[in-house]
Amino acid sequence: MKPNHPNRKVLVTGGAGYIGSHACVSLFAAGYQPVVFDNLCNSHARVLERIGEVAGQAPDFIEGDIRDAQALEAVFRSFEPGAVMHFAGLKAVGESVERPHLYQDNNVGGTRVLLDVMQRMGVHSLVFSSSATVYGDPDEVPITEHAPRRATNPYGQTKLDIERLLETLTAKDARWRIACLRYFNPVGAHPSGRMGEDPAGTPNNLMPFIAQVAVGRRERLQVFGNDYDTPDGTGVRDYIHVMDLVQGHVDTLRLLEAGAGLHMINLGTGRGVSVLEMVNAFEAASGRRVPYEVVARRPGDIAACWADASLARERLGWTAERDLPAMCVDTWRWQQQNPRGYAED
Ligand code: NAD
Ligand code: WQD
Repeated sequence: MKPNHPNRKVLVTGGAGYIGSHACVSLFAAGYQPVVFDNLCNSHARVLERIGEVAGQAPDFIEGDIRDAQALEAVFRSFEPGAVMHFAGLKAVGESVERPHLYQDNNVGGTRVLLDVMQRMGVHSLVFSSSATVYGDPDEVPITEHAPRRATNPYGQTKLDIERLLETLTAKDARWRIACLRYFNPVGAHPSGRMGEDPAGTPNNLMPFIAQVAVGRRERLQVFGNDYDTPDGTGVRDYIHVMDLVQGHVDTLRLLEAGAGLHMINLGTGRGVSVLEMVNAFEAASGRRVPYEVVARRPGDIAACWADASLARERLGWTAERDLPAMCVDTWRWQQQNPRGYAED
């Protein structure tokens, strides 16, 4: 988006998903107009009504696949967005091991198509959902943006491939304004309790699993290992509230409006939390017990990972504001009010 340009429209690929839907709320609040493009392969159309309810206005929605150049081009022609937030992608690590080609095709292939269309349509501002997974098993924590990148699974490889693609693109063409935001572990929900994370099937991630145990959908949590080199032996991660995360995206749009270039920025709190700390915090927030058993380590898991979040503060003026109790209280409100997610009211 050019400086002082009146175009406030932002194409949000994957905008029906967990993070993209919350981003739409923050975009509206900041005076932008999100347009959602999503093939609904891992989301529910009902989320668009919920965005409308929470934000006071619903985004335009086009159902389509980012690998479909014609469909994307039609969207650029009719809505003329000035920037793109690119959330669309598959994200299940286990599935990526079973279906690596699907992950390459959907995530990397889809991003190539999107970039081609943006180039053709003269739109050069992009905020990309990268991930702390690009650091693999880090040599040291906290992790700065200069840490070596390595993929430990096919999903992580797609994020790495896309970051490299974006590096090549910006090196070749000075018009691009791109940010790769490396998320740590997004959790939480909109404080209204009307929007949140709604994983299909058994949750892969800790927070939604704990929430489903607390609400009685699952009997107990399995804690994957308590023999890591961490204070209580369980895995340590940097959980970040989704509302803080999406505020970081809006702040990034402003950074891109100020000038061209490529930015790689961590979005995390800078604080590590263990699995057992999370269980305790969730019990306190919900007033429910979260029974658990310790089982073997999950293959591919690392001991500890948290961000050095100072670059985000310097470049974006952004820091995470919501603490662990807020992450748990907001997740619990969403889970309790929508025990089956978006499947029923
Ligand atoms: P999500 O699955 O809830 O949302 C992704 C959305 O993209 C879904 O609505 C899905 O239907 C859509 N989508 C997938 N492939 C598509 C395609 N080919 N065409 C159109 N739409 C497509 O996931 P999320 O948690 O909201 O994650 C959003 C992005 O952030 C992803 O790129 C993910 O890799 C990245 N990320 C997520 C996490 C996390 O823990 N949630 C962490 C780091 C990075
Ligand atoms: C957190 C901690 C587990 C579930 C994954 C992806 C990463 C990123 C975020 C997208 C670990 C433990 C978990 C359970 C458990 N996604 N755990 N029992 O593994 O840090 O990151 O999601 O980019 O790429 O790999 O997140 O929530 O799965 O696990 O004990 O049922 O909870 O061992 O220590 P992870 P997670």
